[in-house]
Amino acid sequence: MTRRCALVTGGSRGIGAAIATELAATGHRVAVHCRADSAAAKAVLDTLPGTGHAFVTGDVGAPGAAREIIDSAVEQLGTVDVLVNNAGVHTEQPVATTSYEDWRADWRRLVDVNLLGPADLIWHHVDHLRHRLQGPQGARIVNVGSRGAYRGEPDAPAYGATKAALHALTQSLAQSLGPLGIAVTAVAPGFVRTDLTEPMLVGPAEEDVRRQSPLGRIAVPSDVAAAVAWLSSVGAEWCSGTVIDVNGASHLR
Ligand SMILES: NC(=O)c1ccc[n+]([C@@H]2O[C@H](COP(=O)([O-])OP(=O)(O)OC[C@H]3O[C@@H](n4cnc5c(N)ncnc54)[C@H](OP(=O)(O)O)[C@@H]3O)[C@@H](O)[C@H]2O)c1
Repeated sequence: MTRRCALVTGGSRGIGAAIATELAATGHRVAVHCRADSAAAKAVLDTLPGTGHAFVTGDVGAPGAAREIIDSAVEQLGTVDVLVNNAGVHTEQPVATTSYEDWRADWRRLVDVNLLGPADLIWHHVDHLRHRLQGPQGARIVNVGSRGAYRGEPDAPAYGATKAALHALTQSLAQSLGPLGIAVTAVAPGFVRTDLTEPMLVGPAEEDVRRQSPLGRIAVPSDVAAAVAWLSSVGAEWCSGTVIDVNGASHLR
């Protein structure tokens, strides 16, 4: 059987590295993507189970980058059946204490990276799927959103808003791409211990985060990767349109 091919953006560390590993372990050929840290991405690549993986780079927030990222993955893997939009950035801009210049710059960057980046990658991915020999049937798009879209991000409103928009994009595209046989889903992780969140776990904050979940621990990247790998599978078609909470019951909705 032909192995399915996946592109994981932001695969050089954290949740993306765990997703790349899980997809490789479940038989995929994986393109590991990063923005700048090529050494970290190549280190992930070297540890992936199986063969035939690839390395892709590019700033998803830069205009025109999405086409190059998809083209590079397709050139190396032959196709991309599964697109995982994982790359994302988080910055804080409390409205009462942030200058207008910083507020505006933060919003611009977060919209570019967390929303327009995935939207552009999806456009080019769908364009590839529509023109490939076997057609788009069976392809999967999984977007990494956030619990913050529902729970609120009082100090990081641009992050919460871009993730809420990514969930909405997921649901709109699940409807428009269904007729092509493409399932579109998202995960909404709660707090996960990664480079992105490590600075938020200093001192008593760590215990506060641990207490968020009745399971009494802080999530690790593989908790999210397991859900993403399942949503990427052929058998998950009927979940199209869903946003799965991956938050250890820390926020129920
Ligand atoms: N950690 C959490 O608690 C948590 C919770 C909910 C949702 N999430 C979401 O999960 C995703 C991964 O989070 P994480 O904690 O694993 O983050 P992380 O450790 O900071 O890793 C981020 C990854 O994204 C890449 N990236 C960042 N900006 C990029 C850009 N402009 N263009 C291309 N790639 C870029 C990074 O590549 P470089 O290393 O090359 O910069 C890196 O591979 C994000 O979308 C985040 O919002 C995280």
